[in-house]
Order: sequence, then structure tokens, then C-alpha cells
Amino acid sequence: MKKLVAETKSKFLKKYETEPVWIVAVPGRVNLIGEHTDYNDGFVFPMAIERYTVIAAAPNNAADADVYSVNKEESVTIKLDGSATPPQTVVWSSYIQGVVQNAVEAGFHPMSFRAIINSSVPLEGGLSSSASLEVATATLIEAITGQKFDPVQKALLCQKAEHLFAKMPCGIMDQFISAMGREGYAMLLDCRSRVPKMIPFDDLDIAVLIINSNVKHQLTGSEYPDRRRQCEKAAQLLGVPMLRDATLRQLEEVQSVFNKEPDGNICFRRARHIITENDRTVDMADEIIHKNWKTCGKLMYESHVSMRDDFEITCAEIDILVEIARSTDGVIGSRMTGGGFGGCTVSLVKSSKAANISKVISKQYKTKTGIEPTFFATRPAQGALILGDESLGK
Ligand code: GLA
Repeated sequence: MKKLVAETKSKFLKKYETEPVWIVAVPGRVNLIGEHTDYNDGFVFPMAIERYTVIAAAPNNAADADVYSVNKEESVTIKLDGSATPPQTVVWSSYIQGVVQNAVEAGFHPMSFRAIINSSVPLEGGLSSSASLEVATATLIEAITGQKFDPVQKALLCQKAEHLFAKMPCGIMDQFISAMGREGYAMLLDCRSRVPKMIPFDDLDIAVLIINSNVKHQLTGSEYPDRRRQCEKAAQLLGVPMLRDATLRQLEEVQSVFNKEPDGNICFRRARHIITENDRTVDMADEIIHKNWKTCGKLMYESHVSMRDDFEITCAEIDILVEIARSTDGVIGSRMTGGGFGGCTVSLVKSSKAANISKVISKQYKTKTGIEPTFFATRPAQGALILGDESLGK
């Protein structure tokens, strides 16, 4: 992170010929298990990763804010007076504008600023680059105003920005972990009570390996909202408020009710994924505490199969990556992570074998798909940070 911060600081200096006054760094996340369970009031088990969105900023003599993205090589103007409305077309800055608008509405009034954004979270990789941008914006507003959001309010405000300004009906997982992640811990989040439970995950013999398939299938764009609708319908057919409230037995008992519906089979399988995934997620947190790695691996593979066959959010390349991982020595478990249709897999591997595992998987994946994957290993990182002067440029 220090390198990224130093680079952002020097770019700021070069562009604006002055030192930044505020610097924030907010991580992306990887979800170890618990996919699409968050909007069903279920459980998720993410950890923050050592990939960050950094914003450096200083006061500006204007009414609006001037924000430059290093990754997009583009400047935008952000309204600070509370008059912004959701955009017709969503662009990268919509996330920033959405958070600023919600913050102003919540009584936070940042003075005008100019900022540079620089991110090492891969875009469209399923590692929450957008949530880290949202939470970084909210954290910058805290740094500028000197006021603090309640952490839950902060995450929800960012989620609302994504709903309204980016038109993506996401759950709460990404914003919670980016805002509240803790070094050395994964977060078991009960998305109903919204109470996170920090689970120590600091065994140096085990590494978390993230492999980017480097594919993203932009199908119709409605896959995520479709899944949400199918889950809601399944809950209705089951007669429960949310799928979190159903058991597998209950689901099996009402299969005939599902069979009467034209999309009953689909909704049945969606529900089966959510119900079993919730159980796997709670189990995985427990198995990690007891360092039962073999069981953790089994749960991860089961989760992948469930996403592939019941929730239908994987794709050929990602399935290939998981299959290769499964047959590679030193891999404990592997599954797709994030919203789906491409992006990354997350694998638990033996640290001593991590370098070799990357080589083997890379070679086989390239042979099978013609695509070069990218890799990195990460430890559970700290959530949103406002960096003090002493850490700048180190
Ligand atoms: C995206 C959403 C999250 C969650 C995941 C799937 O990352 O933003 O809220 O639903 O997909 O687990």
C-alpha cells in the first residue's frame, strides 16, 4: 500500500503543484464463501485484500470538487451542494457523486477539494473495486469534515449510492468489509443483524491465492437483478420472509408448489444454493477457527458446484480454473468469488507451495483457454484508513 500511496502523492504533487492534505486508502475484498447470500439476509465471509483504492486530496478554491482518476486518465467535476441526481448513464465517477450526495444529505458538508484517485484493485475482477471507491469517497469526506460516520451507516450510505447512482441492486457485503475489515481477520457477517464477527485468519502456513481469469462476460447486465428476483419469488413460494429463514427440508417439502410455476425449477435451484450456501458459510468460519483446512477446502468446492449448477453464475473459464486448482498439489480448496460470470477465483493453498501452484495453474489455464491469468497472494488486510502525515510517502 505504501508504494501506491507514495505514487499517488507524487502524481498529486505533479498535477496540482501542492502537497495533498488528506490521504485515504480503502481495500477491495475477496469473499471466501457465501455468494449472493447477502441480499437474502444470510451470511457472508469476506476479508479485505492488500489491493487498495487510494485518494489524495487538498482544498480547492471552487464550488465543486475536481477529481482525477489515474486508472481512467480522466477528470470529473463532483457537485458538493446536494443538487446531484442519479445519472442517465453510469460512469466511474457516478459512485463518487452518489456517495457525496448521500453524505451531504446526511449532514456532512465537505469543503471544496481536488483529488487524485489511484487504485490497485483490478477492475471488473469481482474484488469490489466499486465498493472500495465508494468507501474511499466516504472516508475522504470524514477526513475533510473531521466528522465520523457510524461504520454501519457509512457502509449503508455507500450501498445506497451504488443502488441509486450506479443502478446496481447490490447487497451489503462489499461495503461492510471495505469499511470494517481488520488486518489478520476475515469477517463473518450476518446480513440480517448486520453485526460482523471478526474471525482470526492468520495462519502463516496457509495463503489466500487470488487468480484472475481475465474474462468478464457482460451478458445482458440483468443477471444480478434476475437472481435477486428469483430468490424473492422462491421465498414467497416457501412462505418465508427471506431465504435465510428456510431450511433444505422445508424447500424439499414444497417442491410441488415450485413445480407449478413456469420458472419453478429455476427458483427451486436458486433457493437450494442460498440455503446450502448459508450453512457452508457459517461452517467455514467455524472450521477456520479450528484450522480444519481439509473441511474448509471441501466447503469451497461444494460452494463452487452450487454456484455453477444451481445459481448458474460461473462460466467455462472459471470452472476450468477451479478444476485445475482441484488437481494441483498444495491447493486446499478453490471457488469463484464475487458476483460471477468471470472475474476471480479464491483458493486456500499451502504457503510453501504457492509459487509453484501459480506456475502450474497458469500454464494449464493458458493451454486450455488461450488466456493468461493473473495471480496474487494476500493476507487479510485492514479496512478503510485515513493516513496521517507521518505515513505519507514512506
Ligand atoms: C456483488 C455484490 C454483493 C454480493 C456479491 C455476491 O459483489 O455487490 O453485494 O451480492 O456480488 O455474493
